Parts: sequence; structure tokens; C-alpha cells
Amino acid sequence: MTDPTAPFAGRTVFRVGYGALQLERLRDRREDAVALVRRAVELGVDHVDTAEFYGFGFANDVLRETLRPEDDVMVVTKVGAAPDPGGPMPLRLAQRPAELRAAVEDNLRSLGTDRLAVVNLRRLDTGPGVRAEGDQIVDLDDQLAVLTALRDEGKIGAIGLSCVTLDGLRRALPAGIVCVQNAYSLVSRDDEDMLRLCTAEGIAWVPFFPLGGAMPGLPKVTEEPAVRAVAESLGVTPSQVGLAWLLHHAPNVLLIPGTADPAHLEANVAAGGITFDAAALATLDAVRSRSSRILLG
Ligand SMILES: NC(=O)c1ccc[n+]([C@@H]2O[C@H](COP(=O)([O-])OP(=O)(O)OC[C@H]3O[C@@H](n4cnc5c(N)ncnc54)[C@H](OP(=O)(O)O)[C@@H]3O)[C@@H](O)[C@H]2O)c1
Repeated sequence: MTDPTAPFAGRTVFRVGYGALQLERLRDRREDAVALVRRAVELGVDHVDTAEFYGFGFANDVLRETLRPEDDVMVVTKVGAAPDPGGPMPLRLAQRPAELRAAVEDNLRSLGTDRLAVVNLRRLDTGPGVRAEGDQIVDLDDQLAVLTALRDEGKIGAIGLSCVTLDGLRRALPAGIVCVQNAYSLVSRDDEDMLRLCTAEGIAWVPFFPLGGAMPGLPKVTEEPAVRAVAESLGVTPSQVGLAWLLHHAPNVLLIPGTADPAHLEANVAAGGITFDAAALATLDAVRSRSSRILLG
């Protein structure tokens, strides 16, 4: 079995956490959203990924309402975009240093805390989605300067990066980076070199879209024949195989699969207990990687 825990930002967390993006699908069922997060904590989840712009603040509201200090859950949030309820998309880019500071303040307020454990700087350098244009093209050093200042002020505990390139990560290392959150899964491994650098540097690798995400057009782990075959032989689901492979792939991988479904939540946590023999691992390792660098908009 893989190690169930790993170090993260000065503490130890259970390697299977929870990503709160899918909570926005429960906006009209707030009680179900609260119950889902509560269930995650009962199952041992102590690392939750969120953002102010998930469901226009809904995810953060639910986390504030649900999580108690004694749950000791590490809530990791992100800056670089902001909710935009009236806009053409649900969020707008907010990359400028003043916008990053404002986003930290918004998250402090909506999560009901005076310190954010980890804040990911959500760049637009790589991965699926849009690329920055105009005044939203901001130098990484200027962004790290404001986040470092916020860390010095005690408003954030540690800094992570998201949608960053290998060069960007190398440049940011002196600032003290605790995690990288790029799109990555068994079927989409654009960033093996960056993962290796993170492993060597003791930086947590927290892939988003660990199953391929809900967005159409991206390769899906559960559609991969090799994944389905291994799942059938072990009597588990293809999603579980995809998550367990990530845990096997490197010791610094932390998972934040997103779900709005309590049964899927339980299955995702149980994936932490799955082991592969050498043949199954070789089959999965040999799956062809397809890029997730799909541009939208
Ligand atoms: N840094 C960034 O830019 C960024 C971008 C996107 C996401 N994120 C973070 O990464 C987290 C993970 O990404 P994600 O939630 O978009 O994608 P994901 O975890 O790859 O996939 C989520 C999709 O898989 C389904 N699913 C989850 N568990 C399943 C299971 N056991 N069996 C079958 N289907 C399952 C979910 O549907 P059901 O709800 O029906 O289970 C949902 O449609 C997010 O929650 C968010 O916290 C970060």
C-alpha cells in the first residue's frame, strides 16, 4: 500500500483530500453540500482545495459553515481570478498584484479566518483554459512579491503555484513554494519533468483534473481501456484506479478529486488503499499520455 499521509506546508496530511469545485453543482441543495463536506471530514479528509470563485463564493461559504477548528482541515485556496456574476464567464482574471491582495482578503472573509494556510497563485502559463492578455499579463516576480508580503504579514501561511511552467517554477523556488497544482492525470502527463523537480524539492504535487475533469474535450481516465481492464481485475472502479495510480506514481502526490456525489467521495477516499502488482503498474505506466493544454475562449 502507498503511504496514506505526506508532508504538506509544515504539517502532515492524508494524501486523499477533496477538491471543492464540484460543490457549485449543489448550489440549490446547500444541505447536501454541507453533508458532503462533513462526510469528507468523517472519512479522514484533512486537506480541501477551494477558491472564492467556485460557485460565486458558494464553496467557501459551505466550507466556513461546515468546518470546525477541531476538524483541523487544511483549506487551500487560490488567487488570480475573481467571481464575475454579471460577466460573459462566471469568473474574470485578476492577476495584478492589487487584485491578488484583494482576493486574499476576500478569501479570508468568506472562509471566516484570519490566516489562509496555503494560497495558490493561479497563473495562465500552461494547462487547459485561457491565456492572459493585456494588463492581465503580469510578471511572476511582481506577483510573488505581493504574496511574500502577505505571508510576512501573517495573512497567508504558504505559497503554491498553479498552471505554471517548469521555468516559472524554477524562478519561483527562492520564494519558498510548497505545492504545484497543474492539470495532470494518468492519461495526461505533460508535466513529468516538473513533477520530478517537485519530488526532489519536497514540494507537494497536487494535480487538478486527476480524473480528467468534468470539462468536455479533455482526456478522461475512466475511458482508457488499460485503466478499465486493471479496474476489472481488481474489482474496483476505473476512477479508483486512476487515483491510486497517481498515489503510486510519486510520494509527494496529494489528491483533490472533485465530486458532488457522496458515493464517489467514499470511493475516492477508498482509492488510497488500493495496491497494484508490478504487472498492473507496468500496464498503467505504459498508457499513452495525451496533452491537456487545450485552449478555450
Ligand atoms: N488550479 C486550477 O486551476 C484548478 C482547476 C480546476 C480544478 N481545480 C481543483 O482540482 C479539483 C479536482 O478537479 P475537478 O473536480 O475539476 O476534476 P476531477 O476530479 O478530475 O473530476 C471531477 C469529475 O469526475 C467525477 N468523479 C469524481 N469522483 C468520481 C468517482 N469516484 N467515480 C466517477 N466519477 C467521479 C465528478 O462527477 P461527480 O460529481 O458526479 O462525482 C466530476 O464530473 C477541483 O475540485 C478543484 O478543487 C483547480
